[in-house]
Amino acid sequence: MLTQDLDFSDVNYAPRLQRTIPDPTDRLVLCLRLPPGEWPIEAWGERWDVAERSCKDTETVRLLRKLPAFEEYSRLRVAVGWSAVPPARVAVAFAETKHVSAIRDNADELRAFARTVGDGELYLYVQDVMVDPVYQHQGLGSQVIEDLLQQVRDTTPSDAFIGVLAMPGTDGFYARLGFESQWPRHSVMQITLESRRPYE
Ligand SMILES: CC(C)(COP(=O)(O)OP(=O)(O)OC[C@H]1O[C@@H](n2cnc3c(N)ncnc32)[C@H](O)[C@@H]1OP(=O)(O)O)[C@@H](O)C(=O)NCCC(=O)NCCS
Repeated sequence: MLTQDLDFSDVNYAPRLQRTIPDPTDRLVLCLRLPPGEWPIEAWGERWDVAERSCKDTETVRLLRKLPAFEEYSRLRVAVGWSAVPPARVAVAFAETKHVSAIRDNADELRAFARTVGDGELYLYVQDVMVDPVYQHQGLGSQVIEDLLQQVRDTTPSDAFIGVLAMPGTDGFYARLGFESQWPRHSVMQITLESRRPYE
């Protein structure tokens, strides 16, 4: 059940999700050659070397096509340095999700996440691409994007527009996965409006 973790809903989005997202999978994707645990980033090199040599402390992570609970999503947002968002707004935002890919560690903690939003037919945008800083540079980000792209291939015509707003420094990450910069044919433009709707 895709929405079983979404206990923060005051919005009825479950029917839409079930229609647009294929059945969730629960498959093994990779074994991290790092023991589990919250280690300081500067310890990675040493630990990686030790793990590479012995290869006995491996961690298995699982990829699931299921939206996380609000608390887990918030935790990951804050971990990557993004702002917190109130539950009601996340519920509305999640309702517009077309595809989702999430990786959990062997303690079931959310470690990587990405989703698409859009109309599912002509335009899709990859959003909320996040990997827990402790788990970055191990292929998890690539795995969630590749899985999202597989879901898009399975559900969307090949002439659909699939875009991503690459944050500074992430162009290389997306380029490796097949995205191409559209500059100078297209540039990203944004407008910020003085909204009449109160901000929570
Ligand atoms: C960008 C991000 C999703 C990458 O996830 P990841 O799991 O580290 O990525 P992978 O291990 O699959 O691939 C990493 C490779 O992508 C490339 N890369 C380019 N820019 C990068 C960046 N900003 N961060 C990490 N890797 C980047 C590098 O070649 C890197 O290889 P390396 O690990 O040998 O250095 C992750 O760093 C993240 O969550 N960042 C904070 C949130 C963010 O900026 N999200 C993107 C929004 S557009």
